[in-house]
Amino acid sequence: MNVLVFKNAEEATEKAYDIFKKSFENGLKTLGLATGSTPLTLYEKIRTSGWDVSHVTTVNLDEYVGLSPANPQSYNYYMQEELFKYMNFKSTNLPNGMAEDLQEECERYEQILKENPVDLQILGIGPNGHIGFNEPGTPFDSITHVVELAPSTREANKRFFDKEEEVPTKAITMGISSIMNAREIILLAFGPGKADAVRKMVEGPVTSDCPASVLQNHDHAWIILDEGSAGKLKR
Ligand code: GLP
Repeated sequence: MNVLVFKNAEEATEKAYDIFKKSFENGLKTLGLATGSTPLTLYEKIRTSGWDVSHVTTVNLDEYVGLSPANPQSYNYYMQEELFKYMNFKSTNLPNGMAEDLQEECERYEQILKENPVDLQILGIGPNGHIGFNEPGTPFDSITHVVELAPSTREANKRFFDKEEEVPTKAITMGISSIMNAREIILLAFGPGKADAVRKMVEGPVTSDCPASVLQNHDHAWIILDEGSAGKLKR
């Protein structure tokens, strides 16, 4: 894991964009994507780059169970609005949260990941240290699976919904081992609200109590922080 701290989110995003650009120039074929507010500026930079991405396949980390792609709170909708409708990707993939058989859907998605090994994965981090929707306690050898969302995650994400009751209780997420298979990873974290999770991820023990701490075991993971999220690091 390489930890880089920048003055603010804008400079941090600039660095993430540079890494992305290098990977793209080196022939990136599969791009792993995350949702949430943290990568929004990075996506803005990518969609205005004017690049031809017709050889690039995308795979997203996760999707809520029970939200259709037409629902503005679904991750499918977010990706369409922030990136996909502006770019000519070869194919774009998200778990189908409306699938009748969720277990079968997880297997289908894992097969897509096998066929499209991720060259570069973009990640955010939840205030409880989750990556994708892998909540504390998720085994490191997990693959794509259905999760029950932690109350703190539903609380953190309720800002995107009209009422807290509307936040889904379940999601489909790539597992921790699916995420760790990526050749290179960029994790972005901004603001003091992430400082505790960042300290545990970077300086705590590698433990499933903080799923993101597994990135200490990844040789090509870039942890890109602003001063706020790095505020509780000792080193
Ligand atoms: C959600 C997503 C994660 C994301 C996290 C942080 O729970 N499933 O992939 O990293 O939120 O979101 P934000 O960037 O809005 O803080």
